[in-house]
Amino acid sequence: MKIIAVNGSPRKGGNTDLLLDEMSRIFERNQIETETIFLRDLELKPCDACRYCRQHPGKCHIKDDFPPIFEKSLAVEGIILATPVYFGSATPPIKAFMDRVGYAAKGMRRPLERKIGAGVVVARRAGQNFTLAQLYFFFAVLGIIIVPSPHYWTIAFGREKGKVAEDEEGMVTMGKLAENMVWLAKKLYS
Ligand SMILES: Cc1cc2nc3c(=O)[nH]c(=O)nc-3n(C[C@H](O)[C@H](O)[C@H](O)COP(=O)(O)O)c2cc1C
Repeated sequence: MKIIAVNGSPRKGGNTDLLLDEMSRIFERNQIETETIFLRDLELKPCDACRYCRQHPGKCHIKDDFPPIFEKSLAVEGIILATPVYFGSATPPIKAFMDRVGYAAKGMRRPLERKIGAGVVVARRAGQNFTLAQLYFFFAVLGIIIVPSPHYWTIAFGREKGKVAEDEEGMVTMGKLAENMVWLAKKLYS
């Protein structure tokens, strides 16, 4: 059983990293393998709508780091999409992930169906609900089961690096989200 966390923050050591670290600790404690994919360290260009993936299922003509990212997305049981809010929206790397992975998956026989998915959003002040909805719409159209946190919507607040640690409710919310993912993953896949 494995969960990947797709980190869409361009900022190393920032608030998104902190929230995912908190969740990873809970996965480790529960012996669930986790890997964070730092999109900032990879090249993932935007989808160019060529529809190559329709003629070549699971393949993309753009020469970048898509193949290992797609392979990992298909291989795991759980996917976390984590993003800061940029101008009221998910960041471009997360959008590229959703467009490329989602569209390629749509050209296959629903390979992401019945995986579990969770969204993690951090904002300074506004746009967080819309951004979480963006992530949830991605999961929903691909048949991925959305996992909520029983504590609150999976949103946290902070601007400067590390500031989110002071958002106690946000940190607890993400911890409870990780616990819920563990609970559901064990029910579905063990
Ligand atoms: C280009 C840019 C746009 C941003 N737009 C918003 C926004 O629309 N709403 C908001 O609340 N915060 C916005 N922020 C603040 C970030 O969401 C916030 O600093 C967040 O903690 C960054 O997460 P990180 O540390 O993981 O990079 C923006 C930051 C940047 C750099």
